[in-house]
Amino acid sequence: MATSDFALFMGQLLRRPHQVVALAPSSRFLCAEMVAEIDPNAGPVIELGAGTGNITQAILDRGVAPQNLHSIEMNPDFCARLRTRFAGLNVYQMSAGDVGTLPVEGAQAVVSGLPLLSMPIDLQRAILSGTFQRVKPGGSYVQFTYGPKPPVARPVREDLQLAWRVSRKIWWNMPPARVYRFTQRAAGACAI
Ligand SMILES: C[S@@+](CC[C@H](N)C(=O)[O-])C[C@H]1O[C@@H](n2cnc3c(N)ncnc32)[C@H](O)[C@@H]1O
Repeated sequence: MATSDFALFMGQLLRRPHQVVALAPSSRFLCAEMVAEIDPNAGPVIELGAGTGNITQAILDRGVAPQNLHSIEMNPDFCARLRTRFAGLNVYQMSAGDVGTLPVEGAQAVVSGLPLLSMPIDLQRAILSGTFQRVKPGGSYVQFTYGPKPPVARPVREDLQLAWRVSRKIWWNMPPARVYRFTQRAAGACAI
């Protein structure tokens, strides 16, 4: 990550702490875990809360073409940086709550850098239900969290019938984090 990207991130953290909600951009170790199951041949990828683009870069490094990556970010300064940093990337300056309206069919995954736990439950519900309108069957919602519990509220998990897998703890991140992969259970599968 360039020094100027780090400075931009810290400046926006001071100006908009309730939107950024992180002490620093995600480390390369956390980014690697977030994108570990991305397959460049498995369809488009949607990213939420792209910030200055650390996870964006990791998705592209998996071999995903910029035209197949759709990054949502509500902060206009971050959007401007993403557009100059990544030629050909689809950047949408909008709320992640509207992810269901994106012109993308059959995404393999939605990869989220959002501060989901600090969001109201109605916004969480809009993000998760929109996600599962845009991913193909078996597609996943990938989210990191710093806390000990799943980052999606229980009522949302239950309403959308979500199952999950969780990674080991990524210590080389500030603060340390885990990555959750949520999928929708097929009808008749076991409850959480
Ligand atoms: C914790 S930062 C993560 C930045 C980057 N993905 C990373 O991991 O380093 C959270 C990002 O989510 C964005 N964000 C917060 N709420 C959002 C919303 N409702 N819709 C879209 N982006 C949002 C913030 O502007 C910020 O860039």
